[in-house]
Amino acid sequence: MSHFLSTTLTRRAFLASTGAVTVGAILPFPVSRRAHAAPVTEVRLCAAPDRIRLVPEPHGETPAWCYNGLVPGPEIRLRQGERLRIAVENGLDEETTVHWHGVRLPNAMDGVPHLTQRPIGPGETFVYEFDAVDAGTFWYHPHQRSFEQVGRGLYGPLIVEEPEPIRIDRDVTWVLDDWRLIKSGAISDDFGNGHDMSHNGRVGNTVTINGRVPDTFAAKRGERIRLRLINAANARIFGLEFQGHEPTVIALDGQPVTPHAPDGGLVVLGPAMRADVVLDMAGRPGSRVSVIDRFYRGLEYRLVDLAYDSAPLRDRAPNWPLELPANPLPEPDLRNAVRHDVVFNGGMMGGMVMAEMGGSMGDGSSGGMMGGGGMMGRTGSMMGMMHSGKIWFINGKAAEGHIMEPMLTLDRDRSHVIAMTNATAWHHPIHLHGHSFRVIARNGQPTRHREWQDTVLMAPREKVEIALVADNPGDWMFHCHILEHQAAGMMGVIRVT
Ligand code: C2O
Ligand code: CU
Repeated sequence: MSHFLSTTLTRRAFLASTGAVTVGAILPFPVSRRAHAAPVTEVRLCAAPDRIRLVPEPHGETPAWCYNGLVPGPEIRLRQGERLRIAVENGLDEETTVHWHGVRLPNAMDGVPHLTQRPIGPGETFVYEFDAVDAGTFWYHPHQRSFEQVGRGLYGPLIVEEPEPIRIDRDVTWVLDDWRLIKSGAISDDFGNGHDMSHNGRVGNTVTINGRVPDTFAAKRGERIRLRLINAANARIFGLEFQGHEPTVIALDGQPVTPHAPDGGLVVLGPAMRADVVLDMAGRPGSRVSVIDRFYRGLEYRLVDLAYDSAPLRDRAPNWPLELPANPLPEPDLRNAVRHDVVFNGGMMGGMVMAEMGGSMGDGSSGGMMGGGGMMGRTGSMMGMMHSGKIWFINGKAAEGHIMEPMLTLDRDRSHVIAMTNATAWHHPIHLHGHSFRVIARNGQPTRHREWQDTVLMAPREKVEIALVADNPGDWMFHCHILEHQAAGMMGVIRVT
């Protein structure tokens, strides 16, 4: 059974509706194409250059690209089952789109240029409209030249509330980002340079929470906070330690998970990933405790201090239930699932191209590195490919733009297992549009929580198996969310038909 049938627009209806909203079109929105009982939340987003206060005085303001003058863009909030209608106006000098990351919606609303819609030209407006099928923490960002558009500040949180949320004292969203700034406070404009593209992406030098370099976060002893973490960075992976606290992960990528303490106490978030964490504020009144990002060894830094008020809220943590109600996800039937193999390779390591190194990296499986089909002959041809921007490969192919033949076709409403191999020396957060999937195994071992994700972080040389019911018809992007890797070829299309 599909949850998308009722909301799927036909291609004709989609084209007609976009035709109705052209240059300078003004709300009200086009009349709804069907009778819809659920309340509709209407939002306007205008993408345009602006100036923001990213770093504190005496640094200058930072010229950035913003939604409605803000970084992050406005937090969009609605209730599960409600409908969202967003008019996106393009005030940039280049084309854009908005992708609703992690939201299971009709293909025509997915915001992928050329694949699901004509890009929104400068001065044009496009109206997105869909139902919030799942509750959870999602986010939005452009899918057009995203390595620069997201990197300059275009992103925002999208929160879908459960009809009956768990009890907490405060619901807090932290959108994490990582910027590469120059002395003046301006964004370094070396977007898409060859080094970033072929190594670990555009890792910056300034980390922000909700668009500000954070100093302190005020809290009270005994308080229970639901902290919604969103990693909006192009490339930085976070591994957050909340010193002296015991965070409980209750959702990943918006989807509920059995409440658990994160491995090693670190909440790890690759680009685009989210985690909902319940934090019982356990510090002494008047004290300060640090949140440390420990992901990159030797490069640990203090992200922010939790600053405790002198008056406690209560003496001990409340014992309210933590379990979130499940979303309506179809359960994959593993015994009858169709199996597909996907290998990622490419990238640089120590001046060598990983894809060329065959099995010599010693991961035990000598065929592993080439996996995707031995397309790399000699260094010369590889350098040629790198010049053309093709550095990363999925099953032997590097994407150029968003127009491509599907790399996999999945039978609709069937269960599928995608067995993925990371044959590179780098981490990759792999994202599938239009679906959530269960992460069922890592390196052959079943995962403890069989977590639902839309973006799964693969460690170097790791094998990860994911399972899903392909219930949402259309052509869906499947790509690495390190935006430089995506731009340099690590992207493909999965067709559900
Ligand atoms: Cu967050 Cu293909 O996107
Ligand atoms: Cu990658």
